[in-house]
Amino acid sequence: MHNQIFEKYTKADKSSLIPLLQEVQAIYGYLPEDALTDVSEYVKLPLSRVYGVATFYNQFRMSPLGENVIRVCRGTACHVKNSSNLLFALEDALNIKAGETTRDKKFTIELVNCIGACSIAPVITVNDDYFGRITTKDIPSIVKKYAGKTKTNGVTVTEEAV
Ligand code: FES
Repeated sequence: MHNQIFEKYTKADKSSLIPLLQEVQAIYGYLPEDALTDVSEYVKLPLSRVYGVATFYNQFRMSPLGENVIRVCRGTACHVKNSSNLLFALEDALNIKAGETTRDKKFTIELVNCIGACSIAPVITVNDDYFGRITTKDIPSIVKKYAGKTKTNGVTVTEEAV
């Protein structure tokens, strides 16, 4: 599936590495191993180098996203309202670290910069749903809400009392 994107780039041109990785990720949502091998062969860079670049930039994902993507805002407004505690609570609840996906592929945790909802900081989103002014006490119920669900498309804003 990804081989047709190579035609746009000159073979053995190392400067194509990052654009190629971006295009592969746009197709799959992450960088599958076989695609990295193909990129490595196309740009004529060792696979270890391609991996090195892919893991250096946090724009690249090495595994597919979970069914539910939880984004924890680490912008200034959320940071001063202890968003890092929300992250720790989520990591504990799901037994993964930021950037990882649970084994059952239900959840991925990502860190993001300001998501434009500073007035309800600290904020996390789950898929398209916003949860503002939450504390660590709210994390279990938020996780539970999505644990048995597939992705929601509607946007809701939930404000919890501090
Ligand atoms: S800093 Fe978190 S929403 Fe703006």
